Amino acid sequence: MTLKIGIAGTGWFGKMHAEKLSAMEGVQISAFCGTSSEKAEAAASPYRDARGYESIEQMLDDRKLDAVYVCTPPFAHGEIELALVERGIPFLVEKPIGVDEDTPNRIRNAINEKGLVTSVGYHFRYMDSTSRAKDLLAVRKPLMALGQWMGSMPGVYWWRHMNTSGGQFVEQTTHIVDLMRYLLGDVNEVYAAYGYMNKAEQDEDVTVPNIGSVTMKLASGAVATISNTCGIQGGHHAGLQIYTDAGVLDIAGDALIDKEVSKTTKYQSSSNPYIRENEAFLHAIRTGDRSGILSTYDDAWHTHQVTMAANKSAMTGLPVKLRK
Ligand SMILES: NC(=O)c1ccc[n+]([C@@H]2O[C@H](COP(=O)([O-])OP(=O)(O)OC[C@H]3O[C@@H](n4cnc5c(N)ncnc54)[C@H](O)[C@@H]3O)[C@@H](O)[C@H]2O)c1
Repeated sequence: MTLKIGIAGTGWFGKMHAEKLSAMEGVQISAFCGTSSEKAEAAASPYRDARGYESIEQMLDDRKLDAVYVCTPPFAHGEIELALVERGIPFLVEKPIGVDEDTPNRIRNAINEKGLVTSVGYHFRYMDSTSRAKDLLAVRKPLMALGQWMGSMPGVYWWRHMNTSGGQFVEQTTHIVDLMRYLLGDVNEVYAAYGYMNKAEQDEDVTVPNIGSVTMKLASGAVATISNTCGIQGGHHAGLQIYTDAGVLDIAGDALIDKEVSKTTKYQSSSNPYIRENEAFLHAIRTGDRSGILSTYDDAWHTHQVTMAANKSAMTGLPVKLRK
């Protein structure tokens, strides 16, 4: 059976997903929707029989789709997901799932009521290095973790404003928070400090803080600190170091370095995490077996709670308790 896929969002990542999907057996890119029919038609043009639409409703009224990939900017969530839930169409949505708490709450409740198949684009979970770390952590006790996303300010307009991206911790560093939750479990309490250095050198309309550290108490008793900056020009690095009772696991990019007392072992990922993410989602649609989906909407909602709590803590100067 050929699965017909629609893509919401005509930018970088909508096109990336469409390219990967179109190379898969039994998958057809059938439609794009965006903020204008011209942009959507242009994005659809490389795919035979695909059409472009200027709204999700138009796309869903005109095309019978088996699934939709939601690749809109963080602020443009809500209407699209709720329309998909209403029509019972499974979807994969890119992270972050929103810039506030209310919209993801409403989407999560609607999904849970319907029992819809969903997936969220936390692709770090699908890296070989991550699954190796998970295996190692089955026999080691994590004591604490340090994580970071250190880089420069992306160029897209929506990334630079708190109300359209949620800021770096919500938009980007959420990958590391999610990786930490996947490997170390849930978060009980969040303390954050954000800052804005070299303001004079930035464009005036930038409102996202460009430095920050967030300390979390985990349900397991472990403590983690994840820091980020979007203010440096070079030396970019994103990763998570897990300090266990039997060595340090360092996940960086697509490799895992395991530093034990007497030896260091490097595990290099070989498969593409985006392809594995697609395979798991499409398999669930075809067969009903959801076991390969490593990040559901419900799970991603918990990661979003943590990043929202970090923003709240940074704003108030107070810790935020997520659970007792
Ligand atoms: N998982 C990853 O590694 C990864 C990497 C890059 C981007 N992303 C995520 O993908 C999402 C999109 O990022 P991007 O880089 O493609 O952004 P982009 O700015 O390149 O594209 C976003 C597109 O969405 C369209 N859009 C805006 N509002 C819309 C609406 N209401 N309905 C339909 N379309 C709308 C815009 O016109 C634009 O074409 C972001 O949430 C980003 O975090 C994830």
